[in-house]
Amino acid sequence: MSAALQEAVHRLSAGGLVAFPTETVYGLGADATKPAAVAQIFEAKGRPRFDPLIVHIAETAQAEAYADTSDPRFAELAEAYWPGPLTIILKKRPIIPDLVTAGQPTVALRRPRHPVAQALLSAFGRGVAAPSANRFGQVSPTRAEHVRAQLGEALCVLDGGPCAVGLESTILSLATPEPTLLRPGAITEEALRKRLGTLIVPAEDSLRTLSPGRQTRHYAPQTPLYFADDARVPALRGKIGALCFGRPAPAGQVAAQLSEAGDLSEAAQRLFAAMRSLDAAGLDAIVADPIPARELGRAILDRLNRARVPE
Ligand code: TXA
Ligand code: MG
Repeated sequence: MSAALQEAVHRLSAGGLVAFPTETVYGLGADATKPAAVAQIFEAKGRPRFDPLIVHIAETAQAEAYADTSDPRFAELAEAYWPGPLTIILKKRPIIPDLVTAGQPTVALRRPRHPVAQALLSAFGRGVAAPSANRFGQVSPTRAEHVRAQLGEALCVLDGGPCAVGLESTILSLATPEPTLLRPGAITEEALRKRLGTLIVPAEDSLRTLSPGRQTRHYAPQTPLYFADDARVPALRGKIGALCFGRPAPAGQVAAQLSEAGDLSEAAQRLFAAMRSLDAAGLDAIVADPIPARELGRAILDRLNRARVPE
């Protein structure tokens, strides 16, 4: 075990916090079974306590200790997509503190694929509660330096390089009467629908009660962001930056490229870093190119919709 990993395991065991890479975004972790440790996550992020956390595990077999896994669809989904960017919501067991689930009777479980996350979770041996390692409401971190910039140099951060997926995991609830998609991600609506037969995709306003963290405005840069087809765009004045997709970046304008070739995985992987770089460029506004509403495009649009200036 590397010295950094040893130090991280030691901190978790002592009830402290560790930031670690996953294939989606970096997480800010604490021992999921210790309320005092979990409370520090909410403190560090400035996160409201009504917003529940995902519990990360090393092995599918560990899920049984934290949740009722008797639904056969759980085993099928875990077999198909774990380790990977899918979070599954099940009925919780009493060992999971109310602070983790914000008092709800359900718990969100995820087995990440990133080798550093796997090494940490295996060495620690218990579930690790971890939200994305950003200040509440800000853009999720996809590199170790994003974490340090938002949460401070004193934090123990395992550096696993840039995240390969770049968007937070798909969240699927099996605790509802029918499987329900609570957050779009790299395991797409199309794929889940095919596998499960039925899949409920709730309207935006009912999402807020089903998944307390899914407020409308979230993932936001400080600079006002608009879609290119927004009626307010022609009236924008000052320095305007472009978030480009499917075309070369324009000359003579500050721009960040999601994918010149129009590749949705590449765009997802770059989205948060691109928003950060435009946000740091001293712009008056950011205008985002249209993204197709299919497969990973749905997840990208979901994040951009929460980041833009509401109508
Ligand atoms: O990819 C990811 O999922 C990353 C990495 C670190 O694993 N984590 C992440 O966590 O995005 P966070 O806390 O930023 O988002 C978790 C979302 C929140 O919107 C929260 O409301 C929802 O999951 N959630 C957690 N537990 C839930 C539950 N029991 N019922 C409904 N929604 C839940
Ligand atoms: Mg988050």
